Amino acid sequence: MVATSSKQLDLETDKDSTYDRIAELKAFDETKVGVKGIVESGVTKIPRMFYSAKVEDYTETSAKLSLPIIDLQDIDTNSSLRVEAVDKIRSASKEWGFFQVVNHGIGVEVLDEMICGIRRFHEQDGEVRKKLYSRETNTKVRYFSNGSLFRDPAANWRDTISFVMTPDPPSPEEIPAVCRDIVIEYSEKVRALGFTIFELMSEALGLHSSYLKELEPADGQFLLCHYYPPCPEPELTMGTSKHTDTNFLTILLQDQMGGLQVLHKNQWVDVHPVHGSLVVNIGDLLQLITNDMFASVYHRVLSRHTGPRISVASFFVNASPHGGSKVIGPIKELLSKDNPPMYRDTTVKDVYARYFEKVISMKRSARVSELEIDNPAQWSTKKVKTKEISNEADTCMAENFVIPRDANTTKDICIEFIVSGKR
Ligand code: OGA
Ligand code: NI
Repeated sequence: MVATSSKQLDLETDKDSTYDRIAELKAFDETKVGVKGIVESGVTKIPRMFYSAKVEDYTETSAKLSLPIIDLQDIDTNSSLRVEAVDKIRSASKEWGFFQVVNHGIGVEVLDEMICGIRRFHEQDGEVRKKLYSRETNTKVRYFSNGSLFRDPAANWRDTISFVMTPDPPSPEEIPAVCRDIVIEYSEKVRALGFTIFELMSEALGLHSSYLKELEPADGQFLLCHYYPPCPEPELTMGTSKHTDTNFLTILLQDQMGGLQVLHKNQWVDVHPVHGSLVVNIGDLLQLITNDMFASVYHRVLSRHTGPRISVASFFVNASPHGGSKVIGPIKELLSKDNPPMYRDTTVKDVYARYFEKVISMKRSARVSELEIDNPAQWSTKKVKTKEISNEADTCMAENFVIPRDANTTKDICIEFIVSGKR
């Protein structure tokens, strides 16, 4: 029978005793050449492991709305422009959790060369790419496809090279020569821009300018450099499944292909590529420390017939033994009788450890019973809310998880797992 919808396909898959999903995943992983390798083999149908129920998300897509664009020109020399930028960042971080920045000081030639460098890496001969292919998550530089391949309900049409840059950078020789210089230059420049944005955000929160940039748990940077090959059947799979970022802040560079969408007021909104701009978004940990003043929101990337699409996500979080052990919680200065803490104190390390301990088992039970996953008692307020917004069957559970509630005054946070290139 020709299955026309992915739900049907899932049902068929369950019934079809000849389909061995794990074997298919393993065989794919063992090729070590990613989704690009599948495309190179000339397929016209995508393998079943990529089928996603997500493409059945009927949440409206709005063509009318677009992300706020914030101009950072002269913010260091003109105080009224700075105040204007700070105000816009405050409202965008609350209302959207996402915005684009222009005139941010990183030259367009640096951005373009970064896209080219990442493209060069992914378009090398398979035999060369293969050498860097790894699932070893504490490797500073590695190439992989689908960080949580064996845990997610559906694989994404995407390959990635990752770099853990701070606090403990790789030696230059560890970075592939085809993109070495630009990865070093780009990551330094984006790190500096991250500090500027942290300053503006601190001001937006009414804190001392250097509050966020001096927060050690936020002072780490790693890069996920994605390559989304053209997809012969984009209606059956996703480029990146719906998720939130688990870090403090993400600065994203995308090429001109499009496909990134943000969930805003229950509608998917396209993030239109603006040449020379960078996309900024709030991660779960910034939502936590701002006590929900800033929002970490769902986003995703559609797969397309046309491609490749290249993007570079720079994540700001410090998961090193030192930075990752520092206590984080809602910032005391922001709290009052009317604004009591929504989250309990935690550490980056604890957040990720809980992911492994609890969420994997939650996920297993979720597989056993959909009822369990939809039972509000099992989930935080936030998770229940997000499930109401989008009732997708296969939201990436391995990348979205909940810290169990263990105090009456606190609520849990929905976290996507991204650290040290683990994904
Ligand atoms: C991510 C992400 C978006 C993109 O890596 O977390 O959301 O455009 N990437 O690749
Ligand atoms: Ni993301």
